[in-house]
Amino acid sequence: MMSSVLIPVYKKIGPTFVRGKGSYLWDERGKKYLDLFPGWGVSILGHSHPQIGKVISQQARELIHLPNNLVHPYQEKAARELVKLSFEAKVFFANSGTEAVEAAIKFSRLYGGGKRYEIIMMKNSFHGRTFGSLSATGQKKYRYPFRPLLPKFIEAKFNDFEDLKTKINKKTVGVILELIQGEGGVNVADYDYIQKVSTLCRKNDLLFIIDEVQTGMGRTSKMFCYQHYDIKPDIMLLSKGLGAGFPVSAMLVKKDIADIMGRGLHASTFGGNPLACRVVLEVLKLLREERILSNVKRVGEYLRKKLIVLKERFGFIKEVRGKGLMVGIELKGKSYPIFEEVLKRGVIINSTHENVLRIMPALNVKKEEIDEGLNILEEVFKKYAK
Ligand SMILES: Cc1ncc(COP(=O)(O)O)c(C=O)c1O
Repeated sequence: MMSSVLIPVYKKIGPTFVRGKGSYLWDERGKKYLDLFPGWGVSILGHSHPQIGKVISQQARELIHLPNNLVHPYQEKAARELVKLSFEAKVFFANSGTEAVEAAIKFSRLYGGGKRYEIIMMKNSFHGRTFGSLSATGQKKYRYPFRPLLPKFIEAKFNDFEDLKTKINKKTVGVILELIQGEGGVNVADYDYIQKVSTLCRKNDLLFIIDEVQTGMGRTSKMFCYQHYDIKPDIMLLSKGLGAGFPVSAMLVKKDIADIMGRGLHASTFGGNPLACRVVLEVLKLLREERILSNVKRVGEYLRKKLIVLKERFGFIKEVRGKGLMVGIELKGKSYPIFEEVLKRGVIINSTHENVLRIMPALNVKKEEIDEGLNILEEVFKKYAK
């Protein structure tokens, strides 16, 4: 139904949801849903984790917001924790994925010093909806209505090193990519490809910008997806799971170059506020204390094994791919009707790129919850196989 007060950029479906706990949501009539795609990959600790709720309400009573020229205890602490878990870097906090990407684009312009400004981006990528990040997004359906976009973004084919090499010239300053293209259909970057891109960036003094907005924070069973590839980014972008539902994002830049983004060159009114940073610290603590990464590995493998069994049974499943708890099921036909039918039966997954079903559950999801969801998916597959 079309709202008379909301700009219709979203297709709203399903009932009105009023409550969530762990991997479940309840609608206003009390019907329970299993959510295997909580918050589009955001709610990594499940819905309304009690500890996150507690910290938010405590901090809200102490201090919600402070401008960035004043100091609070949690911003520096949150930055230190992120650096400890990743690489020697300095951190800029913002509020959403697209803002982290914008910060990286601006950083690249500074790094290029007016002489190098071309950024290589990938076909099928997704980096956000503001003008810079949209310009870095290699999908016509998002870009086309907004032409002309920001110039100097050069598209290369994902996982094709030879193609990338031909796109580099004197004006190139960096390469931006997702290690697993999420919106683009859960396409996993090859190990060798990323190794070669990393070496190419080193040799040519190019910034290797890794967008971990979707893959970061344990999603793929390592804290950050780049850690599967034995490389280090120059810039890493985080959001989604970083606040486990609270809006926050971060750009991490290699320490020895970070200071070129000097005083006044970038800012965010809300970025790095006490409430957001307290939540980031709590999320990191819970990931550790609740041994979330080993759950992602264990349950992720279980999920993929079960999906491969389904693939053997249903000829219309083309491929099952992903890492950890970021999984895509590519179909030979359209995926949206399956998503809708699964939702009707009380399970939330996602449909992307026309023919890919995406499952990205909470990182503390239980095997039994995966079984419950896959039983419904199997029922729907059976119906479609007829
Ligand atoms: C890889 C990636 N980068 C950036 C973004 C943009 O994030 P946001 O919607 O918070 O601006 C997304 C959102 O899905 C994403 O998946």
